[in-house]
Amino acid sequence: MNVLIVGSGGREHVLAWKISKSSHVDKIYCAPGNAGIEEYAECVPIGVMDFEGLTAFAKEKEIGLTVIGMDDPLVGGVVDAFEAEGLRVFGPSKAAAILEGSKAFSKDLMKKYNIPTAAYENFDDPEKALAYLETAQFPIVLKADGLALGKGVLICETLEQAKDGVKEIMLDKKFGSAGNQMVIEEFLTGREVSVLTFVDGNTVKVMTSAQDHKRAGDGDTGLNTGGMGTFSPSPFYTEEIDEFCRTHIYQPTVDAMRAEGRTFKGIIFFGLMLTEKGPRVLEYNARFGDPEAQVVIPRMKNDIVEVMEACIDGTLADIELEFEDNAAVCVVLASEGYPVKYEKGYVIEGLDTVKAKEQEGYYVFHAGTKKTDQGIVTNGGRVLGVTAKGPDLKTARANAYRATEWIQFQGKYMRHDIGKAIDEA
Ligand code: AMP
Ligand code: GLY
Repeated sequence: MNVLIVGSGGREHVLAWKISKSSHVDKIYCAPGNAGIEEYAECVPIGVMDFEGLTAFAKEKEIGLTVIGMDDPLVGGVVDAFEAEGLRVFGPSKAAAILEGSKAFSKDLMKKYNIPTAAYENFDDPEKALAYLETAQFPIVLKADGLALGKGVLICETLEQAKDGVKEIMLDKKFGSAGNQMVIEEFLTGREVSVLTFVDGNTVKVMTSAQDHKRAGDGDTGLNTGGMGTFSPSPFYTEEIDEFCRTHIYQPTVDAMRAEGRTFKGIIFFGLMLTEKGPRVLEYNARFGDPEAQVVIPRMKNDIVEVMEACIDGTLADIELEFEDNAAVCVVLASEGYPVKYEKGYVIEGLDTVKAKEQEGYYVFHAGTKKTDQGIVTNGGRVLGVTAKGPDLKTARANAYRATEWIQFQGKYMRHDIGKAIDEA
C-alpha cells in the first residue's frame, strides 16, 4: 500500500520513520515534508491546507492511507475532504477536531459530561470578560478559543496583566480570529503530563506517557515555544493515576464526543495537570504532540499502520498496544533567538553520526531543515529533535545530551535541563 503523510515537522519525521517499518507499506509520500523525511518518503510540494491538491494527488498515486499530522488541516476539515472522495484517511473529521479547534467547546463538553478540568467561564464579549476579572482570583489563565500555534494561553498574575491580556486576545486580535471567543479559567498547579491515545470512535487505547517543556529557557523561563524537549514515560504518571484517567477522563471524553454526534477517530492527546485534588484536563489536541511523538513512537512495538487502520475500521478493541520497557528523551536543537527572531540557512554537521547509531537507540528527527547544494541547512526555529533511548530515564537523558554534541550548526540553541524533573521522582 502507498501512504501519504501530511505535515513537515519532527512529528511527521518520526511518523514517516515508523510507517516505513510497517509490513503493509510499499511507498511513502509526504506533503510537504522536510530534508529528514526525504530519507523515507518522496516529498511533494503540496500545502497542508490545499485539500484539492492533496486529494487529487492521493487519487493519482493510489494512496491507500493518508495520515494527517497537523492540527490546522484537521480543524479545517481535511479528513472530510478525503472521505468525500472515498479515500482512507487517519484523523478526526472536522466535527470531531473541534475538540482541539475550540477551547470554549472543549470546556463546555467537559462541564456537561463531568470530566475533571479547571473551573472557567467562556466569553465572546470583551466588556463582560473585563468585568468578570474585577472579582476574579489571581493568578488566572486566559485562553484564546481557537488555534494559536500553542501561544494563545496567557497566565496572568495581576488584574492589570489580565486586562491587557483580554485586550490583546479579543480587541487587538493578536491571535487573529482565534480570539473571537476566549476562556478564562482557574490557575492550576501540579505536574503536567501528556497522554496520547488512539481512538476508533468507541474504544480508546492509551500510549505511554510523556512530558513536554514548553518554555524557551532553562528553569522554565522565557517565552512559550512549540516545545523544547520531552521525556517518556513520566515517572509521576502512576498506575493509580492512569486508572483514574481511563475511568474519568479518556473513555468519558470518547463517549461524550459520540453522544454529541461528533464521533472521534484518530489521536486524542490529553494535556493533564496532576493536581493535589487529582488529574485535571488542561487541553485536548486532536493529533500527536510535537515533540511528544519523538519520544513515544520510538518506544512503540506495534506496526503503527495496523493500529491506524483499526481506528478507521472501528476494530481497535482487537489491538493490544505494546511499548518497550525503557525510556526516551528528546532534546530540541533550535536556532538562537527562537521563538522571536532567528537566522536560517546554516549548514548542519554531524547528522550522519547520529544516524549511524540508530541500532543503539539514537535518532535525529528534522523539524526545520532544508536540502541545498551546500548540504542540509537550518530552515526554522526548531531545527532538530535529538532522541535517545536508555534502560531508564536518567540514562536516556545522558544519552540524548551526548548525542546533541555530535551535531553542530551556527546558532545552535538548546535547553540543558530537559528531564530534570526526573531527579525529583
Ligand atoms: P494549553 O495550550 O491549554 O495546554 O496551555 C499551554 C500551557 O499553559 C499548558 O501546558 C500549561 O503549562 C499552561 N496552562 C494551561 N492551562 C492552565 C491552567 N488552568 N493552570 C495552569 N497552567 C495552565
Ligand atoms: N507539544 C505540545 C503540542 O504538540 O501541542
